[in-house]
Amino acid sequence: MALALRQPSAITVAEAALNGKHPKPAELSLYTGANQIFEICATPVPDAGAFRAVITLHDTTREKQTEGMRADFVANVSHELRSPLASLIGFVETLRGPAKDDREAQEKFLGIMHSEAERMARLIDDLLSLSKVEVDEHIQPRDQVSLSSLLRQVVDAMGVRANEKGMTVSLNMSANLPDVVGDEDQLTQVFQNLIDNAVKYGRPKSDINIEISVVDRVPGTAAPGVSVSIKDQGDGISEEHLSRLTERFYRVDKARSRELGGTGLGLAIVKHIIGRHRGWLAIDSEENIGSTFTVTLPVLEA
Ligand SMILES: Nc1ncnc2c1ncn2[C@@H]1O[C@H](COP(=O)(O)OP(=O)(O)OP(=O)(O)O)[C@@H](O)[C@H]1O
Ligand SMILES: [Mg+2]
Repeated sequence: MALALRQPSAITVAEAALNGKHPKPAELSLYTGANQIFEICATPVPDAGAFRAVITLHDTTREKQTEGMRADFVANVSHELRSPLASLIGFVETLRGPAKDDREAQEKFLGIMHSEAERMARLIDDLLSLSKVEVDEHIQPRDQVSLSSLLRQVVDAMGVRANEKGMTVSLNMSANLPDVVGDEDQLTQVFQNLIDNAVKYGRPKSDINIEISVVDRVPGTAAPGVSVSIKDQGDGISEEHLSRLTERFYRVDKARSRELGGTGLGLAIVKHIIGRHRGWLAIDSEENIGSTFTVTLPVLEA
């Protein structure tokens, strides 16, 4: 409190109340081991011909942080949509002007426009799935899901793209794996995203190894689990980026991810889905060697 009252905004509010006025609440930032933001209010209380002041502090740190995050998010989304849109507008102008009679240029530009428009559509789909997961995040899904058959399907579907890069995807699992508790569509989305990353960021002609095994505990809980690790050989991720990787729009190399058609929302969606499942995501990576993403999910209790 002594610290608070040394701040100019606090002094102004307190003095106004001591003079019998009703000052407007003011904002106060304090460092109490971490930055905290308070709303400070002062009310005058008459006392023997003068005034005393009753001062209240209301901690608004969380509200301000949420407000800031929302503003950042809107700024990011606008930016992410604006760049493909700017390129579409640019190409429309070129097609109407300089390239009006150039068949070859028209074909090329229409191809680029198509992929830019697809990227915008993907961005909107990803934003919608992220907001859907967030709305349901407090409700744990309850369906019975067999990870072995789910992964077989995802690997089959992604196999074509892996083969195009000369990569092979191998799936190893122990026999008699128990089912997990989950939402089949959302878990499919998790593994599609992780395997898509392994294909995108893995070296051409390298291997992707997927292992499914039973574990005693889902980290952070007492529940037994099944873990799936997806290991690639490729770029890897340096230490400083690891903790921020699941943030929305966070990309190690923005230009590269865009070039590959990425929105930077894949891992944010993965993190929220796993959170909803009360599961665990671990990321191990070594630069220029490769990365392993491990998802652990609680098993269905008998
Ligand atoms: N297996 C991996 N190896 C190396 N880097 C990776 C791997 N997976 C993710 N990354 C890094 O993390 C970033 C975020 O991944 P994320 O999946 O969220 O976005 P993205 O792949 O760029 O786009 P998308 O939304 O299409 O998935 C990537 O841009 C990349 O830099
Ligand atoms: Mg991705």
